[in-house]
Amino acid sequence: MAAGIDDMAIYIPRLFVDSADFAVARGVDPAKLKQGLGISKMAIVDTNQDPACLAANACLKLMQKNNVSPSDVGRLYVATESALDESKALNSYVIGMLEQVYGPDSFEHCGGIECKFACVSGSYALYDNSNWIRAGEAEGKSAIVVVSDIAKYDMGSTGEYTQGAGAVAMLLNDKPRLLQFDAKVTSTSIKNEYDFYRPFGKETPIVHGQYSNLLYLIQVKKAFEAYKKKALDTGIIKINEGETILDHIDYLCMHLPYSNMGKKALSYLLRREWRSLPRWKRTIEQTGMEEPVPKDPRGTIESILADEEYMTKDHEFTKLFTKTKEYRQFYEDKLASSLIASTMIGNLYTASLYLGFRSCLEFEFQKGVDLAGKRIGFGSYGSGSSAMVFSGTVQPDYKEIVSKMNLEMEIGERKKLSLEEYEEIHENKRSPDQSLLDAKKEFVLVSIEDTPESRGERKYVFCD
Ligand code: CAA
Repeated sequence: MAAGIDDMAIYIPRLFVDSADFAVARGVDPAKLKQGLGISKMAIVDTNQDPACLAANACLKLMQKNNVSPSDVGRLYVATESALDESKALNSYVIGMLEQVYGPDSFEHCGGIECKFACVSGSYALYDNSNWIRAGEAEGKSAIVVVSDIAKYDMGSTGEYTQGAGAVAMLLNDKPRLLQFDAKVTSTSIKNEYDFYRPFGKETPIVHGQYSNLLYLIQVKKAFEAYKKKALDTGIIKINEGETILDHIDYLCMHLPYSNMGKKALSYLLRREWRSLPRWKRTIEQTGMEEPVPKDPRGTIESILADEEYMTKDHEFTKLFTKTKEYRQFYEDKLASSLIASTMIGNLYTASLYLGFRSCLEFEFQKGVDLAGKRIGFGSYGSGSSAMVFSGTVQPDYKEIVSKMNLEMEIGERKKLSLEEYEEIHENKRSPDQSLLDAKKEFVLVSIEDTPESRGERKYVFCD
């Protein structure tokens, strides 16, 4: 049985910080954020928003635009790394909010859990729910997977300029109009790591930035190796002499902690795929240098990062590689459109990959490309760490949905925060009733109980 994404909806908070203002305030060259990392704006949550209301808002939009009623939804999963409670799952808060609109107990038989594995958990949630549909357990119902996060880092840290927030809700069924997942090719890699993690009670993560960048590349590559084998074994992709499997994947969507991480991932994968192909000779000639090799090619991530001579040369080589005709063509054709939304919004942790997917559809469609039948490859990464690589094909009815996508209109009018306003929000100095924007047709947080017997209980309302 088929399974895939029938439709999707996004909810992005309307407050933002401009990366140029931010860079000046932190004494960083604005070009580092704009050109170096690909960040132009970072979405910031208002004081009356949390990951549960972002998720509920995306979910409500998805249900309303598809006329889906609660009895049509068999499972509602929420994947996040911004959990509100050690025990109570985020989907229960979302159901509580949705029942304010659809009526008490309207979701009574809708199963679901909160999923956690940093930014990759949304992909596991999609995979598990697709298998629920493929197994025939759905009995005509749909599943909803919501990915929702607030990417918040310590003030003054290098992570601070890779913040963002938002949610993406995806409707899954057996006759998807948007994307059908390829069966039996989903591949994973996993390793116990401490590249990025958030100990109990800490609001912001502990991050080893450069280590996390390299680990992301290595883990995605490992999952991709397993994917390659499955794609060839199942026959969904056939390659000729001198080709790589990537030649037969029309678009790539990568996890985007910041927009340029997509470029980094693409150059890492292409260098390793092309090395053994005839095109490598003419590509490398354009760089005018030999591809550098680390002193200890089988070393650890730490030893590679500590090999300064190699890191400098590799950085130089990568820059030259990404200027070659072959790379530029590949990048423009298969990746560039998926990076646009990230530049405008920032990191959404679990939701970043799916915002990128949406961005790819919207901006490729705007170019006039017929997307029907195009294969999309996904590279999902979660710190801690695990990667998942999978693929799907765009379905014939996609236009019904993609022609209506308009990122700017869907975000709505945005308010630029001053640095003072941003810092007040960041340091939690304002209460939910001191929000900067008036809520319109959305759920907001009203209060959090602090009495010993009810500590942590959250109240939400739907504002008409
Ligand atoms: N003009 C133009 N470009 C400039 C520049 C300037 N003046 N100064 C620096 N740059 C470029 C650098 O060359 C570099 O580009 P390349 O990577 O292409 O070489 C880029 O700007 C960034 O510079 P640095 O690497 O020096 O930046 P940094 O060390 O200060 O911080 C970071 C970067 C490590 C990503 C940091 O923001 C961070 O720790 N972020 C949080 C962790 C993270 O996002 N990790 C990603 C992988 S883990 C993951 O994906 C999970 C997740 O969602 C968190």
